[in-house]
Amino acid sequence: MREPARLVVLISGTGRNLQAILDAVSSGRIQARTVAVISNRPDAQGLLRAQAAGVTTEVVDHKAFESREAFDQALAERIEQYQPDLIALAGFMRILSDAFVKRFEGRMFNIHPSLLPKYRGLHTHQRALEAGDNRHGASVHYVTAELDGGPVVLQGSIDIRPGDNAEILADRVMQEVELHIYSQVLAWAAAGRIRLTKEGLAFDGQIMDAPLQMETLTADP
Ligand code: GAR
Repeated sequence: MREPARLVVLISGTGRNLQAILDAVSSGRIQARTVAVISNRPDAQGLLRAQAAGVTTEVVDHKAFESREAFDQALAERIEQYQPDLIALAGFMRILSDAFVKRFEGRMFNIHPSLLPKYRGLHTHQRALEAGDNRHGASVHYVTAELDGGPVVLQGSIDIRPGDNAEILADRVMQEVELHIYSQVLAWAAAGRIRLTKEGLAFDGQIMDAPLQMETLTADP
């Protein structure tokens, strides 16, 4: 039997994605042990969720550092103390330096609230509405040096409805997509089924030429 993967989750805020991950770990869907939840904000609500689940929490407050590099260095050292196999950015709202990303490349994931490659960066829901899109969603990708640009493993989408505003749409994307796709990707990663290779993203040893879509997944692809 494989040892459970050691998982570190980085957060900045509410922690709804974190909660879904904690629940999937405790149900055994993700074969991992959450060894730490680290926030760059001392007041992040997600810290309370982690504590309620009995998970070690840490704060590395970016405001205490003079530069991005100094913060990233301190954060990387803190993460490394936990010897993680997997690192999940779950609403972690800091841009990471290339040196940080390189250190953890191949074991670090992010969830982004858009159908990447559309709408990297912020205000994704508003931008999808303004563009007149009729579908919108979220993506889970490997983190590489390019912001929101690493290979996408899985995405899910929903219809944009008349009457949707950015807030309603954000909430529907969270409930109907985000809370499902991140745990799925981390379950695959913890089971060793996905890998970032020089040729690209491999699923069960096969190079994938396009992201998987939540809507077309069977229970166990
Ligand atoms: C989520 O919608 C996540 O996709 C987004 O922040 C929110 C965090 O909510 N992340 C980004 O925009 C990253 N660029 P949560 O803390 O309740 O999971």
